[in-house]
Amino acid sequence: EEGLHATAYPWEHEKLTKTYDHQALRRGFQVYREVCASCHSLQRIPYRALVGNMMTVDEAKVLAEENEYDTEPNDEGEIEKRPGKLSDYIPSPYKNDEAARAANNGALPPDLSLITKARHGGCNYIFSLLTGYPEEPPAGAVVQEGLNFNPYFPGTGIAMARVLYDGLVEYEDGTPATTSQMAKDVVEFLNWSAEPEMDDRKKMGWKVMAVASSLLLLSIWVKRYKWSTIK
Ligand code: HEM
Repeated sequence: EEGLHATAYPWEHEKLTKTYDHQALRRGFQVYREVCASCHSLQRIPYRALVGNMMTVDEAKVLAEENEYDTEPNDEGEIEKRPGKLSDYIPSPYKNDEAARAANNGALPPDLSLITKARHGGCNYIFSLLTGYPEEPPAGAVVQEGLNFNPYFPGTGIAMARVLYDGLVEYEDGTPATTSQMAKDVVEFLNWSAEPEMDDRKKMGWKVMAVASSLLLLSIWVKRYKWSTIK
């Protein structure tokens, strides 16, 4: 069964001439860390990827060092613990899918690295999902025990309850943390995690257009010049 069709929002990063809003990425990562990371992994993102996109190298190092990782086995085959470094990946909340399901009533919180590309409707769908929990299910709706009503989720019964509420996080740049602001920021961040090369791709696109159009103009001029005596 299809969910309710998501509203199309004017995402800044979808505009041809815009890069990501890096302040929004920073806020969105904060929402991921403080809200989503307790249930959802982000397995494809190493700390180094955050550098220059939403934080400085020193900030990323401090974050990485907050976690412990296994060392390579030494000559005796022993594995020890070491603090994280930039090349490490953001740790997952659960050891494996089994543990994740056990903690979530049997449902599996999907990895969020590629989620904006994996779900029909992409950014619009995830924003609608996060902000679309009604206070009460509509009259007549059947909601299975342990599930929550959300009209945007295919089937409308979702194991994830509403997680975003006004004021849940405190943004360091003073942006009011409304439910929709946090949803927007985290969705932009998740689109970055799925498409980190977008800024470079767009910038390269402009260079390609500039060079190609100069060459085209030059070739038109050369053609006219060469043929000018023939007419
Ligand atoms: C599912 C996003 C926080 C538990 C999902 C899905 C998305 C998502 C996009 C997939 C929906 C689909 O399959 O179409 C987020 C975001 C969060 C967040 C952006 C933070 C703002 C949480 C938290 C928990 C949680 C804190 C646990 C307390 C789950 C579970 C599912 C799920 C169990 C599977 C639902 C099902 O298949 O019925 N989430 N989530 N999520 N999430 Fe979250």
